[in-house]
Amino acid sequence: MAAAIKETVSNLLGKGEEAPREPSPQEFEQLKQRYEAAGQGQVFAFLDELKPIEKTQLFHQLSNFDPNRINELADKVLKPSQAAAPDAQPSLEPLPDSATASIIDSNPEDVQNWYNEGLKLVAENKVAVVLMAGGQGTRLGSSAPKGCFDIGLPSHKSLFQIQAERIAKVQQLAQKTFGKEKAVVPWYVMTSGPTRKPTEEFFQQHSYFGLDKSNVIIFEQGVLPCISNEGKIMMESKAKVAVAPDGNGGIYQALLTSGVRKDMRDRGIQHIHTYCVDNCLVKVADPVFIGFAASKDVDIATKVVRKRNATESVGLILQKNGKPDVVEYSEIDKETAEAKDPKQPDVLKFRAANIVNHYYSFRFFESIETWAHKLPHHVARKKIPCVNTETGETVKPEKPNGIKLEQFVFDVFPMIPLEKFACIEVKREDEFSPLKNAKGTGEDDPDTSKKDIMQQGQRWIQAAGGVVATEGEATGVEVSPLISYGGEGLEFLKGREIKAPAVIEKEDSA
Ligand code: UTP
Repeated sequence: MAAAIKETVSNLLGKGEEAPREPSPQEFEQLKQRYEAAGQGQVFAFLDELKPIEKTQLFHQLSNFDPNRINELADKVLKPSQAAAPDAQPSLEPLPDSATASIIDSNPEDVQNWYNEGLKLVAENKVAVVLMAGGQGTRLGSSAPKGCFDIGLPSHKSLFQIQAERIAKVQQLAQKTFGKEKAVVPWYVMTSGPTRKPTEEFFQQHSYFGLDKSNVIIFEQGVLPCISNEGKIMMESKAKVAVAPDGNGGIYQALLTSGVRKDMRDRGIQHIHTYCVDNCLVKVADPVFIGFAASKDVDIATKVVRKRNATESVGLILQKNGKPDVVEYSEIDKETAEAKDPKQPDVLKFRAANIVNHYYSFRFFESIETWAHKLPHHVARKKIPCVNTETGETVKPEKPNGIKLEQFVFDVFPMIPLEKFACIEVKREDEFSPLKNAKGTGEDDPDTSKKDIMQQGQRWIQAAGGVVATEGEATGVEVSPLISYGGEGLEFLKGREIKAPAVIEKEDSA
C-alpha cells in the first residue's frame, strides 16, 4: 500500500501548492484500463463532464491507489469466510509477571529509579513523542480537530496546549535535574487529510504553545478509498474519490513516507512515546514509562489501567497463544471476563485495559518495512456522503452505506516475541480520561475531561499541604503543566488556602 499512501502523506518538507502535472492521454488511458480491468471503472463515470483541471486531479488521486489491492482488502473484509479461519479456541493468559509492573503496587524505589532513568534519557535528547491526531472525532461532533477542543477548563486551554506544556515541562525538569542547557523532546504530530491544515493553522496561531517550531513536526497519515457494501470504490463527487484516514495503525507507514523516522534517526532518538490526542491526562514523554521500558530493554511497552469490573467494555492486553495481543471485550466469554487472579482473589485475572499509550524502541522502528504491510484492516461501517455513479445523484445517507478500512496501532503486538514486550499498570485517575463523546453524554465527554483534570490538581495541592476550599459544585483546581508535570513542585502552596474552582498558572497565582 506504500504507493497508495505516497500522495496523501506530505513529507516533512511540506507539499507545494503548485498545480498538478497534466497527464498525457496515454497515461490517462492506461490508468483507466487498470481500474476497468479491476472492475472499478465506475470511478470514471463522469469523465465527460469534468473540467481539465478536475480530470488531472482525479488522475493523480487514482494513481496513488492500486485497484487490485483495494479489491483484495475489500474482499477480505466483505467476505470474511474467504479469509483465514479464526483461531477456534485461542489460549488466553495474562502477560507473565516478568513483563508487567504496576504503579499501584510497585516498590516506590523502583518507580523513582525508572523516573530518574527516563528523565536522564530525556536530558540526553534520546526521547521523542508521536501524537496520533488523525482521527475525525465523529462522536465528539466538533468540526475542528480534537486537539483544538476546549474542554472548559478555567484557562480554556486546548488539548494540544495541555500536551505541549507537558512536553515543555518535562524538558525543563530534565535540564534542571541533569544540568543540561537544552533538552529537546521532538513532538511529531500525525494528522490526516481532514485534520492536517486546521492543525497546522492552530499551532501557528498559538505560536506552537511556546515550543520551538523546529521541534514540532506535523505530518500526515495515509488515506484509503471508502468502499460500498458491494466492494466498489465510492466517489465523494464526480471528480473525487471518497477517502478516509487509514486508522491509527497508519502511523507506521506514515513514519516512513513522511520522513519522520529519518528525522528521528538524524536526531539520535532511541525511545518513542506514542499516544492518542483525546486523553487529557496523558503524561506526554513520561519519564517513568520511558525508564521502565528502557530498563527492560523491550521493543514495545504499553500502559494499561485496571478494568473497572468484568463488564466494562474495554480491550484487554494479554498473551494470546503465547504472543502479546489485544482482545476486545466482545471476544471473550463471561467466564474469562469474570475470572479472578489466583494471586489476588479480589481483582480480575484479565484486568489490563488498553488505553493506546505506547512505548517503542527506535531499533524496532528500523524494522517497519518488514511487518507494516502485514497489519490487518478492520471494517468501520459509516455513513459516507457520495455520488451515485449510475444516476449522478448526491447521496446523504441516513444509515451506514459503506465501509472505511482502518488499521489499528496495536495490531503490531503479536508480531513481536513476548520477551520484547512489557506492560505497566497506571492509575486511571492520574493518567486516563479520553474525550470521545459530545457534551452532555456524561461519559468520556468534555465535562468528564475537565473534571478529571481539576480533581487531579486538587489532589496534588492537598498532597503538597495546600487546602482547597470547595462548596457544592465548586470543586477542583486546574494546575498548569508549566507549574507541575505530575504533582511535583507545589511546595509553595503548603499551608495556603485555595478557593475552588481555581487555576494555578504561576507560582504566585494561588
Ligand atoms: P478513535 O478511534 O477514538 O477515533 O481514535 P476518533 O477519530 O478520535 O473518534 P471517532 O471514532 O471518529 O468518534 C483514537 C485515536 O487514534 C487517532 C485519533 O486521532 C485518536 O487519537 N486516529 C484515529 C488517528 O490518528 N488516525 C486515524 O485514522 C484514526
